[in-house]
Amino acid sequence: MPASILARRLSQIKPSPTMAITALAAELKAAGRDVIGLAAGEPDFDTPENVANAGIAAIKRGETKYTAADGTPALKKAVVEKFKRENGLTYAVNQITIGAGGKHVIYNAPAATLNEGDEVIIPAPYWVSYPDMVLLMGGKPVFVAGTQNQGFKIRPEDLEAAITPKTKWIIFNSPSNPTGAAYNQAELKALTDVLVRHPHVWILADDIYEHLTYDGFKFVTVAQVEPKLYDRTLTMNGVSKAYSMTGWRIGYAGGPTDLIKAMGMIQSQSTSNPSSISQAASVEALNGPQDFLPKWRDAFQQRRDMVVKMLNEASGITCATPEGAFYVYPSCAGLIGKTTPKGKVLANDSDVATYFLESEGVAVVQGEAFGLSPNFRISYATSTEVLKEACTRIIRACSVLK
Ligand SMILES: Cc1ncc(COP(=O)(O)O)c(C=O)c1O
Repeated sequence: MPASILARRLSQIKPSPTMAITALAAELKAAGRDVIGLAAGEPDFDTPENVANAGIAAIKRGETKYTAADGTPALKKAVVEKFKRENGLTYAVNQITIGAGGKHVIYNAPAATLNEGDEVIIPAPYWVSYPDMVLLMGGKPVFVAGTQNQGFKIRPEDLEAAITPKTKWIIFNSPSNPTGAAYNQAELKALTDVLVRHPHVWILADDIYEHLTYDGFKFVTVAQVEPKLYDRTLTMNGVSKAYSMTGWRIGYAGGPTDLIKAMGMIQSQSTSNPSSISQAASVEALNGPQDFLPKWRDAFQQRRDMVVKMLNEASGITCATPEGAFYVYPSCAGLIGKTTPKGKVLANDSDVATYFLESEGVAVVQGEAFGLSPNFRISYATSTEVLKEACTRIIRACSVLK
């Protein structure tokens, strides 16, 4: 047998499970099945028209050439102003990096900093890509559990206990994918107090869901809550979720110049610049009118409330009401051990997700993918009618278990 062409480090990682389930649901749909996909992590709204038009105008102006590898001066300036205006954070233009989506920016951080065996603290449940990015760079993910009875938030004492001399980063995501949990000022301060005591630990603040919070929740970010952490925090954000621009692929971050420069260097030797057209559109997204956001928030909040209410009517499911993002992360502990009409015993949350997909054509993502079980994730970034139908089917699927 010929030796594998693949690098040894690839054996450590797996394809994004959320994408795999979205693809499976699409496959079933293409084969004629009536499938409702609740697995994708993107808003269902169109990119605002003024933003889309800014992209078209950039093409017409001939802005279709390479830009600086880590972003145009115009977009960096818009990001500087955004951080100042919305987060009270002061960054210079050379403290900003622009990548092809938030994921790309996050990827560049461990790529630029991790040595073999460095530890990265990841609160669980977590966004699926964090552990794999860390593993790919030779790092070691260290998970700290934020359980359902803690509102899916980690406790300061558990964070403190997880820090070792080898800890290089904590990746902190609020509002969270997959739970929607968001830390308020006091909750975040309790964690930053711990981090202040450990000056060797850097913080990657993934704020991508910043604008999607409900019931008047006030978003705060790490370096804003604790200025003492500013010099070792990478504040990352992007236009994908807030402006419904997932396909445009623009993310950004602000941080210390050495780190930002190193991340830009990696980008200059890999992807080069993110799309010039998308960068022009993102300038308009950040600088232009923000009046569509409250409307989107209202729509998401109504959907969230309906989904939480209906899921709690399903026998064996309990669902908390999250503060933000567009996900709920119900527990399906009450379904484990039950038997389906076809005689299969549901042993874990992967079985539950497969059962919902096969019996009722509802695609959700099993909690196993996010590191906290038994749960599943529903993305409610789809129409109320579709969500209602999906929840009705889940209630029915639960009711026929024995
Ligand atoms: C927590 C979190 N961070 C980052 C990203 C990356 O977003 P982007 O589409 O801009 O790469 C996502 C997207 O799903 C996410 O959920």
